Amino acid sequence: MRGAMTALVPLTLMACAQTPAPAPSQAAVIQTSPEDLLADKIERGRAIVSRECASCHGLDNEEAEWPDAPALRHMLADYDSGTLNEDFRQSVRVGHPGMPQFLYGPKTADLLLSYLVSIQEPETPPSED
Ligand code: HEC
Repeated sequence: MRGAMTALVPLTLMACAQTPAPAPSQAAVIQTSPEDLLADKIERGRAIVSRECASCHGLDNEEAEWPDAPALRHMLADYDSGTLNEDFRQSVRVGHPGMPQFLYGPKTADLLLSYLVSIQEPETPPSED
């Protein structure tokens, strides 16, 4: 408790000291690295999947909830990402009995793919001994 109290004091003092706003010309240029962009796409794709697909397919490395539905992390083992991307673009025509049809534009398809690619796990190779 004592530690927490002492830590609060400098914070309060700092809040009182007015920091001058940076001149507009010095405003930080927001740089987005390719890694950040990808991470952002994966995150947004994951949000869609968690909303639309996870109830049947599970999320991340979970098992699929729905009998016969492939787990997400193995999806691209059966579907080459190019083919799947095409399918996503044309509407997720991967629809099956039990699976609703989804209509996504290229941008959303890209997000979904980025996420799916990021979580793929190779099938366990047959052991060699
Ligand atoms: C209501 C349950 C359900 C939902 C929601 C669902 N799926 Fe499926 N999905 C299935 C089932 C069941 C199968 C397997 C059907 C089969 O193999 O006969 C499947 C198969 C697939 C396949 C394999 C492709 C194929 O042709 O077999 C992909 C890819 C897929 N789903 C992607 C998605 C994506 C992406 C979403 C969300 C946008 C989604 N699914 C939402 C039930 C669902």
